[in-house]
Amino acid sequence: MSVKKLYIETLGCAMNVRDSEHMIAELNQKEPYELTNELSDADLIIINTCSVREKPVSKLFSEIGVFNKYKKKSAKIGVTGCTASHLGQDIIKRAPSVDFVLGARNVSKLSKIIDVKHAVEVDLDYDDSSYTFGEYRTNPFKAMVNISMGCDKSCTYCIVPATRGDEVSIPSDLIVQEITKAVSSGAKEIMLLGQNVNNYGKHFTNSEEKCNFTKLLQKISKIDGLERIRFTSPHPLHMDDEFLNEFASNPKICKQIHIPLQSGSTKLLKDMKRGYTKEWFLNRCAKVRKLAPEATISTDIIVGFPNESDDDFEDTMDVLEQVRFEQLFSFKYSPRPHTTAAKFDNQIPKEIASARLTRLQKRHTQIIDEVMDAQMDKVHSVYFDELKSGSRVSGRSDDGKLFFVEGSEELLGQILPVRVTKTSRGALDGVVI
Ligand code: SAH
Ligand code: SF4
Ligand code: F3S
Repeated sequence: MSVKKLYIETLGCAMNVRDSEHMIAELNQKEPYELTNELSDADLIIINTCSVREKPVSKLFSEIGVFNKYKKKSAKIGVTGCTASHLGQDIIKRAPSVDFVLGARNVSKLSKIIDVKHAVEVDLDYDDSSYTFGEYRTNPFKAMVNISMGCDKSCTYCIVPATRGDEVSIPSDLIVQEITKAVSSGAKEIMLLGQNVNNYGKHFTNSEEKCNFTKLLQKISKIDGLERIRFTSPHPLHMDDEFLNEFASNPKICKQIHIPLQSGSTKLLKDMKRGYTKEWFLNRCAKVRKLAPEATISTDIIVGFPNESDDDFEDTMDVLEQVRFEQLFSFKYSPRPHTTAAKFDNQIPKEIASARLTRLQKRHTQIIDEVMDAQMDKVHSVYFDELKSGSRVSGRSDDGKLFFVEGSEELLGQILPVRVTKTSRGALDGVVI
């Protein structure tokens, strides 16, 4: 059988990255596909889209135009992911050269619809929580594993519930099965994925199972050969003591945690429907710092949410000062369709939001420079997972820092002590000791 070529572009979050792997696996179960970076070689082009902020959506249509210009005449174009979910049929109306549209929650239907001209599958209630996808992983040393689909929150700024539907947890036995398989093919590290991982176990489709996130972590930790567990994203609201104790005391759980703040102002958090206060957030971070002083904390912050006053923004700056996040993902608020905040009065002018974002990022850069400089001569356990050019190998420390060392293939798949020899904002150089 001749091998077809697939060009796939993945935007957005880790869940989309995993969806792309699932799509490759699904295609391969039907007929062999090989990935290509050359658009003009591709028989199938997939754009796996994100719609969390406005920019990527407007880029989609100009990109389809470019693809049409350079692609083989016979090549098909598919639009998948979150923008596919919420624009659906409109994508084909606006760009009839698109062959199919497959929503974020409908990935397992790919091989069924690929040959159906102008197929649109964007069912938000579609439930493949018990579906076993074929095996495909970009990196054999670490595996992403979905533990839930969708989101049961309704943060007023966020489009995700409208693109990924209600939350459903995947049965824990299936999760354990998948991880065991990944470990037997060489993965020592896994990343558990869900929009609110620590809300795991609230909604199952069929099973009577009673399992919360802490219990799931305990169950997964028993898998022989699995050495490192990461997860993203937990929700601050569900960070109870039981969970934080497990995070701190379980040696297989990497000491890196994402605690998405969004805003430091309790008033804004209420308008955002986040369900927690500034004090609760600070209390949870303090608890992490106390129970696991070696842990790093990352966060997401939105500036310029409707009604954000100078005082509200100062609250956000205050949380930054108090927690000193080791990593920050910060965004200007972007009004999205299907969200209530888009209709709020008092949208913040762009210039004010931009100035706040600049100030936030500037201050965080200073913090991160101090954090990274203090790493000089420290020793970390690094799991090597990628060959780089110039005889270098990269990996991550337990607390999530990116490391580079001189070396070759034999380091891959090993967890070794590394001493830091050079620091920079984004990564550390070191030597294996
Ligand atoms: N489930 C995750 C977030 C997923 S979306 C959580 O609750 O933390 C990833 C991030 O995008 C969010 O944390 C938020 O900071 C940002 N985001 C979501 N909607 C946005 C919007 N309308 N404008 C700007 N940033 C947004
Ligand atoms: Fe969006 Fe909120 Fe759900 Fe996160 S928890 S995906 S921010 S609605
Ligand atoms: Fe984007 Fe969808 Fe993820 S909107 S951030 S790809 S859940």
